[in-house]
Parts: sequence; C-alpha cells; structure tokens
Amino acid sequence: MNVEDIKDGSEGPKMILVTGATGTIGRPLVDILHAEGANVRALTRDPQAAGLPADVEVTEGDPSLPGTVASSLEGVTSLFLHPRAAGDGAAELLALARERGVKRVVVLSAVNVDDDLAVQPSRYRGDRNKEVEEAAVGSGLEWVSLRSGPFAINTLHSWGSQIRAGDVVRGPYATFSEAPVHERDLAGVAARALLTDELIGRKMELTGPQPLTHEEMVATIGDVIGRPLRYLEIPPEAAAQSMLQHGFPEPFVEALLARYAREAGQTARLTDEVGKILGRPARTYAEWVADHAVAFRN
Ligand SMILES: NC(=O)c1ccc[n+]([C@@H]2O[C@H](COP(=O)([O-])OP(=O)(O)OC[C@H]3O[C@@H](n4cnc5c(N)ncnc54)[C@H](OP(=O)(O)O)[C@@H]3O)[C@@H](O)[C@H]2O)c1
Repeated sequence: MNVEDIKDGSEGPKMILVTGATGTIGRPLVDILHAEGANVRALTRDPQAAGLPADVEVTEGDPSLPGTVASSLEGVTSLFLHPRAAGDGAAELLALARERGVKRVVVLSAVNVDDDLAVQPSRYRGDRNKEVEEAAVGSGLEWVSLRSGPFAINTLHSWGSQIRAGDVVRGPYATFSEAPVHERDLAGVAARALLTDELIGRKMELTGPQPLTHEEMVATIGDVIGRPLRYLEIPPEAAAQSMLQHGFPEPFVEALLARYAREAGQTARLTDEVGKILGRPARTYAEWVADHAVAFRN
C-alpha cells in the first residue's frame, strides 16, 4: 500500500477523518495512516491533552454531538467511525458527513454485535456497537465494518496492577478462552479499509491468531516479562465483588461473568481475516505482551 493508492484522478487527494483518534485503536490508526503518507485529521474532544505527534493535524469536536464536528468534515472523503466516541450521535454524524461530501465510512464494531443485546457486556458500559454499525451500513456511503474480537489490551487493564504487585493473578474462570487481537493489527486493517477499495461492503470478524485461556495468557505474560506468573481461579462471586469495588456497573459485571460461565472450557472462535487482509500473520499474544512489557513491569 502506498500513497498512490489513496488518490483517485477524478476527485483529487483523499482526506481521512479519524474519530476516537486518541483511543486504543485510533492512536495506532493515525500513526499508520500518517506513515503511509495519507492526509489524516485526528478528532478529539481535547486537542491539548491528545498527545498526538506534532505533525499530525488535530481537530476539536465530539462525535456524539455531531454539530461540533461540522468544520472538521471540511474536505473529508473518508471517515473512521468510532462507536464509543460517536454513540447515539452516529446516524446524525453520518448524515452530516454525506452532506459534506464524505464518500466512505469504516466503522469499528464487535464480533458479538448480532448477539442478543442483553448478553453483550459492553452495552452496560454505554457502548452502542450495533446501532453505530447499522448507521454506517444504512448511511448511503461506501462502508466497511471491522467486527473486532477481544482487544489484547483488555488483559493489561484487568491484570496489570496485580502483575506489577506480585506473581499471582486472581480472577474467575481459568479455562475461559479468547483469541486476543493486537490493536496495531486492527488499526492496520482499518487503514487498509480506508486506503484501498478491497474491503468495501464487508463485515469482517477480526480475531487474534490463537485461542488462549486466562491461565495460558497469564503464563504467556510471565514468559515474556521473565517472571513465573500464575492464574489463581477465584469464585465468580469474589470476582464480582472485586469488579464492583473497582467501579464497574453491576449489570456489566453480571453480563461478563455470565458470558465466562457460558463459554468456560470451550475453545475461542478464530478467524484468519487479519492475516489474509494484511498479507502477513496476525500478531500473536506473546508479541503483543512484548510490545507492552514495560506496562506490566512498572
Ligand atoms: N475492548 C474490547 O475487547 C472490544 C472488542 C470489540 C469491540 N470493542 C468496542 O470498541 C470500542 C472501544 O474502543 P477503544 O478502546 O478504542 O475506545 P476508547 O479508547 O475508550 O475511546 C476512543 C476515544 O473516544 C473518545 N471517547 C470516549 N468516550 C467518549 C464519549 N463518551 N463521548 C465522546 N467521545 C468519547 C475519546 O477520545 P477524546 O477524549 O480524545 O475525545 C477516546 O480516546 C467500544 O465500542 C467497544 O465496545 C471493544
């Protein structure tokens, strides 16, 4: 992929607006697009705090309040639509984008988006992946949906403080299995969807390359950071108490533990989409840990 791919003779150079640009996926996406020589504009509610590279164009707005994004859409041809950032504002934002000449939307979504809404834990934290994906598909724009599996970085959020403090990770359901995906691989696929026409009209399930249980993931972190770590299974009730104490909403905790209970002992579902799209193997969980080893050590 090179900068020639992102130009078409009739319409001049493309401009990509990235919503959620300071987040888990948005930040590496901005990096990749910038490195590819694409014209990229990074949207944030707070440019001062964004911490994006100095030579990236940063623009202020809140995608959940589409009126605040109107001027940022000037000259934009493609939009990366972040579901957490856009939330209930997605349909209005897309209508405005279309009116302003945007041609394509690439939306982040989730592998469980077609499940019963009541069993999707992220909904209880306010995420609206289904509605945002539907808004993209119904927008009248060219669209691509990235249905992501679990982000590998969830494990840093869940276990990082325990690992920094000791060698035992206490958590529920040791045999629950996932195929964690590296955020740079998701961002790489998003860049491909924005810069080429290869993925238009596709809803792609994107997972990491290996199923790993909680127990195996913790052992992998230990191998990579050079300390023997052990996952100590605790009863779901104790895990629930701890999550509630850390401020997670009760319905979220219930839905998450119910999912673990339903799926524990099963092998996580895998797809090979990331490797096929990027033309190289998806990054392994061990590679992801190596990229974040400092955060587990300090
Ligand atoms: N974690 C997983 O395993 C997983 C898997 C599949 C799908 N997903 C979905 O992916 C999304 C989370 O992605 P992420 O981790 O990249 O998100 P994130 O880092 O939490 O948020 C991305 C950016 O959105 C902006 N933002 C956050 N909350 C906002 C709000 N209420 N209103 C307006 N802007 C807001 C923030 O930017 P500024 O502060 O700079 O404006 C933030 O940096 C969710 O929809 C989740 O359900 C997650």
